[in-house]
Amino acid sequence: MLIEIPALLNSEEVQATVAALLDQPWIDGKVTAGQRSAMAKNNRQLSEDSPVAIRLGEQILRRLSDNALFMSAALPKKIYPPLFNRYSTGEAFDWHIDNAIRGIQGVRERVRTDISATLFLADPTRYDGGELVIRDTFGEHAVKLPAGHLLIYPGSSLHKINPVTRGERIASFFWVESLVREDSQRQLLLDMDVAIQRLTAQHADDPALLQLSGVYHNLLRRWSDV
Ligand code: NI
Repeated sequence: MLIEIPALLNSEEVQATVAALLDQPWIDGKVTAGQRSAMAKNNRQLSEDSPVAIRLGEQILRRLSDNALFMSAALPKKIYPPLFNRYSTGEAFDWHIDNAIRGIQGVRERVRTDISATLFLADPTRYDGGELVIRDTFGEHAVKLPAGHLLIYPGSSLHKINPVTRGERIASFFWVESLVREDSQRQLLLDMDVAIQRLTAQHADDPALLQLSGVYHNLLRRWSDV
């Protein structure tokens, strides 16, 4: 499932983030690509050990843990420290699937990439092209969100970044290892959670709500690995 999480960062946070990013030295994006995807990848990234990247990444992690929709949709167990990339005119990243397991630099921790995430940081009127295109059983979805919005999608999906034809696309990207590995199970849990929230707002004292939230937790207990 593709899920848009609006306004993870507000516009002041986006502006401050982009200003800090543009001030930094950028390196060839092939450094974090697997051997196969390095051939498809043509962009630039901020080095993973850049103190500015680490500070901005930590701010994004705080916003994620405060965001009810993200927490409910992703059910995160581990989050890879956010990385940053930019695509100038002519740059692109052709079809690929992200590596299944990623080691976090400098620590002995690894993240299984159940969910891929892109936080759009550039104003979409300031660049052409640069859509994130995701292929699933319903076909191809080209996504370009307002600055500060986040897209999460299954790490198992084939995806690409269309060539930028004007301006510059700046984004943060990272992966989530979820408590619930299967995308279809996460989708059921999210649907149920959303329905329970709606019912709570309308009929908070209905005893069926207690039963439904019991079912939610019992499914989560059955499907999660912690
Ligand atoms: Ni990718």
